[in-house]
Amino acid sequence: TYIVTDNCIGCKYTDCVEVCPVDCFYEGTNTLVIHPDECIDCGVCEPECPADAIRPDTEPDMEKWVEFNRKYAELWPVIVSKKDPLPDADENDGAPDKLEKIFD
Ligand code: SF4
Ligand code: F3S
Repeated sequence: TYIVTDNCIGCKYTDCVEVCPVDCFYEGTNTLVIHPDECIDCGVCEPECPADAIRPDTEPDMEKWVEFNRKYAELWPVIVSKKDPLPDADENDGAPDKLEKIFD
């Protein structure tokens, strides 16, 4: 499965949602998540993210991100169309300690 990790926070470019064949992206205020149980592991979203925020769960230390994605995918609404990025997306791309800012 693929998951969204911290560099999406504050950016939300949304290029990823256009390519997902199963519409398994969900939208919060500052970030998106993937429902890990709905993702079919096709991998097409990964290269679409300008912030390189989408990772396969086979990378090291991804378990907390899988649980983060699952938790919020069940709370947030589905998003299937691209929209404008967040206003400070380019400044936030690569910024440190993003997880602390998720609900600012
Ligand atoms: Fe959707 Fe494929 Fe990305 Fe999974 S890997 S979220 S199915 S585009
Ligand atoms: Fe986030 Fe990248 Fe998609 S910044 S909204 S995972 S294109």
